[in-house]
Amino acid sequence: MERKPVRIRPRFSENEFTLVENRTIILAPTGRDSDLIAGLLQRAGLPCHTTPFITELASEIERGAGAAILSEEALSGNLIPEVLRVLGQQPPWSDFPLILLTVGGQVTAQSERLRELRRPLGNVFLLERPIRPETLLGTLEIALRGRRRQYQIRDQMVQYERAQEALRRSEKLAVTGRLAASIAHEINNPLEAVTNLLYLMRHDPSPDSLKRYLDDADQELARVTEITTQTLRFYREPNKPVQTELAGIVQSVLVLYHSRLAAADITVNREITIPSANVLSSPGELRQIIANIIGNSIDAMRRGGRLRIRISSSKMRDGSDGIRLTIADTGSGIPRELLPRIFEPFITTKGETGTGLGLWVTHEIVKRNGWIMAVRSSQQPGHSGTAFSFHIPAAK
Ligand SMILES: Nc1ncnc2c1ncn2[C@@H]1O[C@H](COP(=O)(O)OP(=O)(O)OP(=O)(O)O)[C@@H](O)[C@H]1O
Ligand SMILES: [Mg+2]
Repeated sequence: MERKPVRIRPRFSENEFTLVENRTIILAPTGRDSDLIAGLLQRAGLPCHTTPFITELASEIERGAGAAILSEEALSGNLIPEVLRVLGQQPPWSDFPLILLTVGGQVTAQSERLRELRRPLGNVFLLERPIRPETLLGTLEIALRGRRRQYQIRDQMVQYERAQEALRRSEKLAVTGRLAASIAHEINNPLEAVTNLLYLMRHDPSPDSLKRYLDDADQELARVTEITTQTLRFYREPNKPVQTELAGIVQSVLVLYHSRLAAADITVNREITIPSANVLSSPGELRQIIANIIGNSIDAMRRGGRLRIRISSSKMRDGSDGIRLTIADTGSGIPRELLPRIFEPFITTKGETGTGLGLWVTHEIVKRNGWIMAVRSSQQPGHSGTAFSFHIPAAK
């Protein structure tokens, strides 16, 4: 059966939306001001919406508007908080323009009080009545131009957010990509061993030898299975926080880096004072962090060294139980001038081979989870090295 495509009507069409965003809300409850101003704006081709109620003014600003024109008498003291409430809820890019038509003449106690009350309104243009039409139109155009700039900033912020999200996703793939070479190597070693064992079985088929070769082949294949299981976890793990055993995650990353560590002549020291330390975390995120930090340490120890991984218990700032994970290397150290910037995106000293996203993503994950992260590094000859530590709440 053929289905008719369902058409979903957006709440506003693009044109309607632009119209709403650029219209002017007019609130002038007394006399003919409201009609006169609306007529003036319409003749100038500027969309507007008039209302006699301040509550409606507030809700219309919430719906979207470019500016508002309001007469001072509409802003009696007890209604200002309503406008302030709406303006207080504006997003960070917004500084809504208000054109306030004041009563001309002497400064009175009442006018002084109003002046104090409207101070927190922010982006306010004051026009003293009687106002010439061209003054009002000129001021409104300036206000609307400023508002359009704010919309540009808003659009750029949206694009920036999207780009960041794309970067975050690409870094996750990159971690796996970087590990792929390591993984291929890891799998190749046991497979070569199995090939050799098969050769031996063919040439030395005595029952005793066969049993030994089969046991060895079993062990080698078990290693392949371990490596493929750990690799698949990177893709399949849930992204939500669950009880996760920290030492297990560290171990699974070390399995995948095994041959790179051996090739670079790096010894690994594990100091796990609480072996079954559980944290509440997405295992995928934790694995990504640890893979990034250990990957950097390996890069920094081209001529061998020591990688120290420590898991210990500690207290969080609020006194609750925490787990501290420290990953320290005896590598080249981070240059002092680079240290304050290493968590920014695209900061790398690795040229073509680095993207400079590893520590940025690590920091983002740490911030989002409310964990604490610290780094110490030295380039002092003979004592150079870097230590990253993470402070994570323990799972109950
Ligand atoms: N353990 C370390 N020892 C020495 N320098 C380090 C260490 N960790 C990070 N750095 C420095 O910080 C820079 C940024 O690290 P980051 O992981 O963000 O990017 P990267 O490793 O260069 O690239 P990638 O995006 O591939 O991870 C590195 O280029 C390096 O100069
Ligand atoms: Mg890195």
